Amino acid sequence: MSYSRTTDFDDHLPEQVHLIEDAESGFSGAIVVHSTALGPAAGGCRLWHYASHAELTGDALRLARAMSYKNALAGLPFGGGKAVLQRPQRDFDRAALFRLFGEHVQRLDGAYVTAEDVGTSVADMAVVRRRTVHVAGLEAEPGLAGGDPSAWTALGVFESLRAAVAVRLGRGLDGLTVAVQGAGHVGTHLCRLLAAEGARLFVADMDVARAQALAAETGARAFPASSILEADADVFAPCALGAVLDRTTIPRLRASVVVGAANNQLATEADGDLLRARDILYAPDYVVNAGGMINVAAEYLGESAAEVEARVCAIPARLHAIFDRALAENRATNRVADDMARAIIAQAQPKRLVAMAA
Ligand code: NAI
Repeated sequence: MSYSRTTDFDDHLPEQVHLIEDAESGFSGAIVVHSTALGPAAGGCRLWHYASHAELTGDALRLARAMSYKNALAGLPFGGGKAVLQRPQRDFDRAALFRLFGEHVQRLDGAYVTAEDVGTSVADMAVVRRRTVHVAGLEAEPGLAGGDPSAWTALGVFESLRAAVAVRLGRGLDGLTVAVQGAGHVGTHLCRLLAAEGARLFVADMDVARAQALAAETGARAFPASSILEADADVFAPCALGAVLDRTTIPRLRASVVVGAANNQLATEADGDLLRARDILYAPDYVVNAGGMINVAAEYLGESAAEVEARVCAIPARLHAIFDRALAENRATNRVADDMARAIIAQAQPKRLVAMAA
């Protein structure tokens, strides 16, 4: 049997969609295995409220594909997947939900590896672990990778920010102004790293007290969440929600570099073209925020924190390759990153299909 790379690898089609429906408890969700070409499909489990099951599944599909790209470009031996659970609007038995989820992960027999994501925690993953071994994001064991991944995510974003600023502005971090949107786990670590290098910070959060506390700690200026995009800063660092950059917000940006932790920062691929047209250098989100996933992958593989650090510190080199190619091809950086990730996955895909056919 022969396989052609281009016809066998349709990036928009996942390999598997596994639905979770439990009539007794009413719990529901979906696990999407987007690609196992590079290894087990790895990606976190999100707990969120969706208006419909179609909306939930659509989000899981989009997020799973982004995980394939993230893992491929991070050089990890993992494909991409994602789980999304419907957050009940009434009180619910959280442990029962995560036991059920663990049973479903186990049914996939290692094709999908889970971890925490928005709305889930290390404690939830400990419950999942009672039903399956295919889970990471648990408490770290001495000498090994594990635990809260946000400090690693922040380190990758920080080093990427340094690289992007050198390319676009030809300068270092001392005296640079950075507008940070989101004073949560990653935003907090990022502000500490930037403040230690002499950067001047604007910090905004929907939770004003959180922004004020971080500002007091790091010498930053607390900024209203509604206008952080328009802050007079060199760099905009989105570390809150996705889809913050679209055709209405991009014209408001005053920064000339965008580097942040949030997933899916661009509302659409074409928004990368809009940034480029404004000469704003965009560091693709899934490239720079891979530190957390690198930590989760190392935990699953039983690797050390030193190996995590080495992989996180390799992120800027990948970013430089993307910037160089985008410049050479006159294209937006997000489009170049997507092409590079797809090429890595497509190259591995025929091997997998041959193995399946054997
Ligand atoms: P978090 O939940 O700890 O912090 C997010 C913060 O953003 C919260 O303080 C929230 O109040 C604030 N926020 C929400 N909407 C806002 C708005 N419109 N304006 C200003 N602030 C707003 O989340 P975490 O872990 O810090 O992650 C931040 C982003 O990075 C998320 O998009 C997450 O998906 C992404 N990410 C996180 C990773 C990690 O290791 N934690 C890994 C990769 C991506």
